[in-house]
Amino acid sequence: MKSAELRTSFLEYFRSKGHEVVASSPLIPANDPTLLFTNAGMVQFKDVFLGREQRPYVRATSSQRCVRAGGKHNDLENVGYTARHHTFFEMLGNFSFGDYFKHEAIRYAWEYLTQVLKLPEDKLWVTVYEDDDEAADIWLKEIGVDPARFSRIGASDNFWSMGDTGPCGPCTEIFFDHGPEVPGGPPGTSEADGDRYIEIWNLVFMQYDRDKDGNLTPLPSPSVDTGMGLERLAAVMQGVHANYEIDLFQNLIRAIRDMAKGADPASPSLRVIADHIRSCSFLVTDGVMPANEGRGYVLRRIIRRAARHGHKLGLNDAFFHRLVGPLVTEMGEAYPELVKAQPMVERVLRQEEERFAETLEKGLRILEEDIAGLKGSEIPGKTVWWCWMRPLSTPNPAARWVTPVSCSPRA
Ligand code: GLY
Repeated sequence: MKSAELRTSFLEYFRSKGHEVVASSPLIPANDPTLLFTNAGMVQFKDVFLGREQRPYVRATSSQRCVRAGGKHNDLENVGYTARHHTFFEMLGNFSFGDYFKHEAIRYAWEYLTQVLKLPEDKLWVTVYEDDDEAADIWLKEIGVDPARFSRIGASDNFWSMGDTGPCGPCTEIFFDHGPEVPGGPPGTSEADGDRYIEIWNLVFMQYDRDKDGNLTPLPSPSVDTGMGLERLAAVMQGVHANYEIDLFQNLIRAIRDMAKGADPASPSLRVIADHIRSCSFLVTDGVMPANEGRGYVLRRIIRRAARHGHKLGLNDAFFHRLVGPLVTEMGEAYPELVKAQPMVERVLRQEEERFAETLEKGLRILEEDIAGLKGSEIPGKTVWWCWMRPLSTPNPAARWVTPVSCSPRA
């Protein structure tokens, strides 16, 4: 099943269960200063959960574009080097606003996975929050999950919140077993860090609003918020292990390799760039511009990371913006706003690439001049700052994650 077919299948399943299919909201959360980017499907429904906003429906489903780079869920440094970290991903979700609760949420999830997608039951593992006897009973007594594939886990994994404040609650997670050839143990065991058992779906039972002091106030009515990464599910359905092996990423990687002829097909740089073109294109589509602070700074940092990885593949001229077209081919049908913004996105990315190339060239010239006039074996700190830190430095505290990777002290 192609990624696009999977997206449609999920939305249609929940439409058939009385859910309103709601379009993805932009990556800049509306009226929410607590979040840098939309990082989950429930973000656009936050005020509905809190009882501050009414909608003409009590059940919704969406495929939400999300960015996790900066803020609470920040995966940037891992991207390209692991099977599943992304700056941008799509989250499939179903939501109940004071309508159904644990029973239906669990029943729908199980039915979708085992009846619609026909995943074998013995490949699915389940966890619940350690104190949640109600959810445990539904799984074990009503659904009939084998207790050998079931465990209770504490708040670190099974209590979900969208940020430091806001709606939150205990959750139950469904994992897929990728098979004994992949190292790793079942969820809840000491070997759970491995890659064999992959969480595919998180069902959150929204019950509380957390304030800045950590106090939990019950929500007006218990609700449901679920999140399932499209890319992970596509990997399961396409019989591959890493998200980067799914159709959508492979098509983007093919487009990069067409430009970087002779690039090592195993290079992590291919994955980094394939990931980054998605976040950068959608961020610009949603109105973020490269800048030295805030959201624009995160965007600038991702574009520059992509450019550096392009250099590693031998792509020395501006190349990144030329991937917007292949991305539109993959995702334009599901996100018409991307199609509309394509010329603007290409222009912004190209300008930023050119600007970065100039900055790098200037820094390297200063470095070479100082090395030529060097007395002794130490490069002055001022030069290092000019070459590596200054192009990236900013008054924004986010700049703390900027590390000049190319110069280790006294290396
Ligand atoms: N909102 C549920 C999740 O992101 O996992």
